[in-house]
Amino acid sequence: MGGGSLNVFSARHLLVASLALNASLLFRVYIGGFSPALDLLSLCSLSVSKGFEAAAPDADAAASPAAVSVLASSSKTAEHRLVDHGRIINLDHGDPTMYEKFWQGTGDRATIVIPGWQSTSYFSDPGNLCWFLEPELGRQIVRLHGIVGNAVTDGRHIVVGTGSTQLFLAVLYALCPQNVTDPVSVVSMAPFYSSYPTTTDCLRSGLYRWAGDAASFDGGDGPFVELVTSPNNPDGFLRDPVVNRSGGVLVHDFAYYWPQYTAMTSPPADHDITLFTVSKSTGHAGIRIGWALVKDADVARKMTKFIELNSIGVSKDSQLRAAKIMKVVSDAEEEGSNQGDAPPAAAHSLFEFGFENMEERWRLLREAVKQSGLFSLPDYPAQFCNFNRRSFGNQPAFAWLKCEGEIEDCEGFFREKKILTRSGVHFGDSPKYVRISMLDRDDNYLAFIKRLRSL
Ligand SMILES: Cc1ncc(COP(=O)(O)O)c(C=O)c1O
Repeated sequence: MGGGSLNVFSARHLLVASLALNASLLFRVYIGGFSPALDLLSLCSLSVSKGFEAAAPDADAAASPAAVSVLASSSKTAEHRLVDHGRIINLDHGDPTMYEKFWQGTGDRATIVIPGWQSTSYFSDPGNLCWFLEPELGRQIVRLHGIVGNAVTDGRHIVVGTGSTQLFLAVLYALCPQNVTDPVSVVSMAPFYSSYPTTTDCLRSGLYRWAGDAASFDGGDGPFVELVTSPNNPDGFLRDPVVNRSGGVLVHDFAYYWPQYTAMTSPPADHDITLFTVSKSTGHAGIRIGWALVKDADVARKMTKFIELNSIGVSKDSQLRAAKIMKVVSDAEEEGSNQGDAPPAAAHSLFEFGFENMEERWRLLREAVKQSGLFSLPDYPAQFCNFNRRSFGNQPAFAWLKCEGEIEDCEGFFREKKILTRSGVHFGDSPKYVRISMLDRDDNYLAFIKRLRSL
């Protein structure tokens, strides 16, 4: 095809093609089954349509701390004000947009400016095992864990990744020997995070393969990797390993091990390999930063090698943003702890903001579920939290809701009501369950509660 014919394929054609693509995606989301594989694409097209429905945020009001009032103080009025045009309410993804309001309230405190000359080099810290880790991010990771008390960082290597999803693949690469004849089995107890099977098997690696539910795993005496997600996605429970034999390596996925979701108990987590992410801790899923705390230098080195082969490091811009965001979170916690016993204000403390919002969202959900008589939710035992000095049960980032009685296809039931959820089958469980995101923006979450009440 010559240059002339490329010109004929003009911007107008591209526009028409993109409109058609969006329309077909919306159609599929609206009418057909909602495949998790379509998640990101459909999320983009849905957010375009949402832009027409939702009022534009008021920039001035958003910048003042008063605007960071938690859902708790305004849910009743906000819910009544909502005009529900029977629109699609998408709570399928774990998109943490609830946190946007907190960060709007911090004004410029978490803003960074990066001059054009910066980041010409691939290298961040050539002398460090993880040579692409920005030193300031490393410092802020150690500081934040120290303040929250959720993980030991002494004697650990930090490996940074493009989200903890990249680190998950890096861990598998690092743990599975190159010379095996049979791939190493990767397991996690059901219900497990729906991305584990798909991410593990996406390249049909000869090194490892998804082997399903850890509770029923029978891999002979072969090596295995067990993923321990705590609190768990989707059901929100704290977890311990379940495979009861030697020959395995544990990987702890602690995406939700933060005090807005679960009590911080002592001693801090002290595992061989633990994965964290800003996606669910500070709510910055879009900057794609995760980190692994790794005891064994050889494993950390191999993980670093994987990321070198995969993406030659991790965006410095994103690392600097993550470092600044964590600094703002830690500064506020330290200032708060200097001011006596009272809990810090939700306008300043990210964890207090998260805690109060999750508490209120769970209260509203439990109330609506009880009123409907159609569903049930898990109960979580209360534990004392050393961080916020409260006793509370888990307030997970997802609701693992069961349709009781005759309803067999819970996802289908909700889809008919134009509420998009994710079926239990994607998590290795029954279609009587769905996973519902608890981290969406107030308007979407309250619209969901309102519709639930009307069932
Ligand atoms: C348990 C768990 N691990 C990892 C991730 C992915 O995190 P990231 O956005 O850092 O790739 C998620 C995201 O939902 C998750 O729920």
